[in-house]
Amino acid sequence: MNHPALDVHLDADELSRALRGDVVAGLTADQKWLPPKWFYDAHGSELFEQITELREYYPTRTERQILTDRAAEIAGHTRARSLIELGSGYSTKTQLLLDALTAAGCLETFAPMDVSPTALTEAAGRITADYPGLRVHNIVGDITRHLKHLPAGGDRLIAFLGGTIGNLEPAERAAFLADVRAVLEPGEHLLLGTDLVKSPNVVVPAYDDADGVTAEFNRNVLRVLNSSLDADFDLDGFAHVALWNAEAEWIEMRLRARWPMRVTIPGVDLVVDFASGEEIRTEVSAKFRPEGVRRELSEAGFSLNHWWTDRDGLFALSLATATG
Ligand code: AVJ
Repeated sequence: MNHPALDVHLDADELSRALRGDVVAGLTADQKWLPPKWFYDAHGSELFEQITELREYYPTRTERQILTDRAAEIAGHTRARSLIELGSGYSTKTQLLLDALTAAGCLETFAPMDVSPTALTEAAGRITADYPGLRVHNIVGDITRHLKHLPAGGDRLIAFLGGTIGNLEPAERAAFLADVRAVLEPGEHLLLGTDLVKSPNVVVPAYDDADGVTAEFNRNVLRVLNSSLDADFDLDGFAHVALWNAEAEWIEMRLRARWPMRVTIPGVDLVVDFASGEEIRTEVSAKFRPEGVRRELSEAGFSLNHWWTDRDGLFALSLATATG
């Protein structure tokens, strides 16, 4: 039996220190905010999996279709010996890449990096069983801080799927892509999933579904603060808001206080007052245009080799090479 390696760059202590830092910074700001990575405790990861199956949430199934159509080409083009997946979660779409790279006879190592140890461990069990002989190297880490711990080269393919790059704001995105480029050798590859700009009539329902799963996912960040920092957020006191910011071309998720509230957060020694209607911004999810993706990649030191979309032009996969 093949045992997956597990590198932990974010232990419980560091995770809790990072959470506390973000909570203090975000909830003492004039315009309150919390970073989206804190949605994903075990319950939040489970809710996200439910989101991916909603009728309104097109990104996951669309990206899966593109991957189904293109995985063999990706394997042929990259001949990757290592597949590194950033923000991998449960790695449900990754199987398509693993199959193609295995069939091409090049793949030796799979290294998923995620902040959620539960998602990684669960996926690793499935993957080690399905791909005997594959070295699985789990990395618990934050993709904006721990890229330097990714396994060394060569012939690596870094996959960053799902459109998660849209959770970063433009300046963070540029820094992140430059960091990804810095860990790669010239000639190694990046496979990037980006959700595309489209009518708000399609985007908004994807983030505000009729069953309220996304609302529950959004409020889960408050549940995380209640359980890990002993906070007393009343989840019913916050309404889920998803709105299209036409200028920035991103969706914003917010939590809006339905009435005035005072919340205590003993874990960070903080008392936070909410006026009625006051909001916490919990996520941005940027949507992209082809020329923007090409430019951002090129500014980070990548050249775009392939741009693949679905027939409705909802979502895109880019395959890029690190330039020398
Ligand atoms: C996992 C970051 C790609 O931004 O669409 C889903 C997260 N937020 N519904 C996205 C999410 C609300 C998702 N990503």
